[in-house]
Amino acid sequence: MQAVQIKAYGGGDGLALSAVGQPRPQPGEALVELEFSGVNYIDIYMREGHYRASKTYGSPLPFTLGMEGAGRVADANGAPGLAAGDRVAYCLARGSYAEYAVVPAWKLVKIPDALDAPVATALMLQGCTAHYLSHSLFPLQPGHWCLIHAAAGGVGQLLVQLAKLRGANAIATVGSAEKAQRVTELGADYTVLYRETGFLAAVQDITGGEGVHVVYDSVGADTIADSIRCLRRRGTCVNYGGSSGLVEAVNPLALAEAGSVFFTRPHLAHYMHDAEEIGTRAKALFNAVERNALRICIDRVFPLPDAAQAHAVMENRATRGKLLLAI
Ligand SMILES: NC(=O)c1ccc[n+]([C@@H]2O[C@H](COP(=O)([O-])OP(=O)(O)OC[C@H]3O[C@@H](n4cnc5c(N)ncnc54)[C@H](OP(=O)(O)O)[C@@H]3O)[C@@H](O)[C@H]2O)c1
Repeated sequence: MQAVQIKAYGGGDGLALSAVGQPRPQPGEALVELEFSGVNYIDIYMREGHYRASKTYGSPLPFTLGMEGAGRVADANGAPGLAAGDRVAYCLARGSYAEYAVVPAWKLVKIPDALDAPVATALMLQGCTAHYLSHSLFPLQPGHWCLIHAAAGGVGQLLVQLAKLRGANAIATVGSAEKAQRVTELGADYTVLYRETGFLAAVQDITGGEGVHVVYDSVGADTIADSIRCLRRRGTCVNYGGSSGLVEAVNPLALAEAGSVFFTRPHLAHYMHDAEEIGTRAKALFNAVERNALRICIDRVFPLPDAAQAHAVMENRATRGKLLLAI
């Protein structure tokens, strides 16, 4: 089969289609014939080798990129409740930039008839991330103030909408006026063009000097110090990514000085622990789309051989929602 396999860590220029052996499912796994693969920032971290020693997302060379996909079951391999031909989606199994992927059966969710495969794909890795951030890690309540960085990105757009559905006030940082318009349409209460205006001063202004209850920071190196300072007393800083560079260290005294605040650096995998947790999040998101409460923006669909272009769009801050590879 054809797949985008990498043999050395590095830049996007190393992404090329090659012929590789079709994977064979082991007990407990199913074979999925992919229709779409989701492009996510984690693919860039993996391509660059940041997760080479990760216990959760280990990426020993050579490996096929891609942690998210949707398609049809080609071989259910005896997995209970699963049959060949079922439409399924999943995330957090390596190898979706390919025609076929082997996936632990417990990670597969069935796609409802009313939902198309691109939307289901967008709801898996980015959607479930926005869901656990807003519902589990820091369960937003009406009246809470949250600050969402990179709010016009894949996760960001969904997080803004889920925050509003939970009744919170959302301050969104974005890299351009066009992105600000997009997140305003999605319900953000305030937008800050953080490449032009300091977001710390803006947050203090908006909240009357109180600060926010929670910061969702996926930008990392460039923003984390001020994200911590944006919090109100005993607030929570969630550093869930490092699009501008990974955060290497945080000074505990800075947490105390900011108001005895909490700091966490979560992995999605720990909030998608078993079939029940995955199914609950996915179903909640599928239902929200079906009742028109959640809007999914599929930004661009690239053919599989153009995976390098998709990575360049993401690294150049040019995403306006979900990037997909059509297999
Ligand atoms: N820990 C978890 O559980 C988890 C799960 C999923 C995703 N994530 C993280 O969430 C983040 C968002 O992922 P995504 O797939 O939805 O990507 P994305 O938000 O669509 O793209 C990244 C965005 O980050 C912003 N950014 C700021 N500084 C940047 C820089 N120096 N280089 C590139 N981008 C920069 C850009 O938005 P502006 O132009 O508006 O600044 C850019 O569009 C990533 O950091 C990812 O690793 C974490």
